[in-house]
Amino acid sequence: TAMPVEASAYELDGHPDFMHKEIREQPEAVRRALRGRLDERFNTAHLGGLRMEPRRLREFSRVKFLGCGSAYYAGQLGANLVEELARIPADAEPASEFRYRNPVVDPHALYVAISQSGETADTLAAVQELRRKGGEVIGVVNAVGSAIARECEQGIFLHAGPEVSVASTKAVTSMNVSFALLATLLGRVRDLSTADGKRLVSGLRALPDRIAELVAMDERIAAVANRFAEASHMFFIGRVRGWPVAREGAQKLKEISYIHAEAYQAAELKHGPLALIDRGMPSVVVVPDDELLAKNIGTMEQIKARGGPIIAITGARLPDGLADAVLPVPSVEPELDPILLGIPLQQFAYHLAKVLGRDIDKPRNLAKSVTVE
Ligand code: G6P
Repeated sequence: TAMPVEASAYELDGHPDFMHKEIREQPEAVRRALRGRLDERFNTAHLGGLRMEPRRLREFSRVKFLGCGSAYYAGQLGANLVEELARIPADAEPASEFRYRNPVVDPHALYVAISQSGETADTLAAVQELRRKGGEVIGVVNAVGSAIARECEQGIFLHAGPEVSVASTKAVTSMNVSFALLATLLGRVRDLSTADGKRLVSGLRALPDRIAELVAMDERIAAVANRFAEASHMFFIGRVRGWPVAREGAQKLKEISYIHAEAYQAAELKHGPLALIDRGMPSVVVVPDDELLAKNIGTMEQIKARGGPIIAITGARLPDGLADAVLPVPSVEPELDPILLGIPLQQFAYHLAKVLGRDIDKPRNLAKSVTVE
């Protein structure tokens, strides 16, 4: 019937698909994720959904992030941020693994359940298991009133607005921003200085404008993506700050273009995957402008020496001729830059899917929200 078509055309607001629209909504989504949460007076974050006094916040000796799919990869980025800014040991695990392996629930840990929909069965089950065992779990959720939001008494809402495309974009970016807020808060009740707090708060404040610049680079990204549309496999390489970014980038490409993509830690390449590098195996290398730049350049030299095409996503200036294509990314602060580095990878996957004629918003075999085991 005509009605649903009209309704979706209206909601699409002139965009060809929801992923296109949602990628472009990211500056606004991040502005909403930050609204009222940056405390410029005390150089920290204010999270109204966490009712925990500083004394309580200081008690956590560990932080564990749990989620599925892109929410899990976002959690890995969150764990990096918590370790860096708050110096609390942190890690991420797929909620499905956690729920089935009879985990040791640590009474001194803060558990963070992450979900766009708030309805993912495995994440909900992990939260329920934690609550049964007395674990302290907060939710980082987009959908207000969802099962996970209700099950966690405290948490952080993303305020990203409705996300329709199966491949998550603005919700993932907002998750990452929320983790930066949480890590800043946990850091500032510990040893993160007022000077560093100030630097991070202004870096966070600058994010929406930097994201708007990135999103505007779409044509350049499309041109790069089109050059690699023949590939049937790609590596996504990153280390430390770039590693969760590479994993999410590979996930996005698989999901919507059906090109096989495998994420690998840069230094692990030489322990096996380097054997696969040749002219037909492009590597997308995530290169933050940080103290590991020289190491990442070394990795690209190893790939290049074996004839592998390189697509570099970077805030740094690379030696001429090293990469076959460069997608430049603006910088805010080194700890926050991974949030920006992920965005061109969404667009890269989008354009590959587009040129291959895929159904962008509804990839085969996948669902937006997996409410069954
Ligand atoms: C599905 C979606 C993914 C999403 C994952 C977790 O697999 O296709 O895009 O990352 O579920 O969803 P959630 O709503 O819990 O974030």
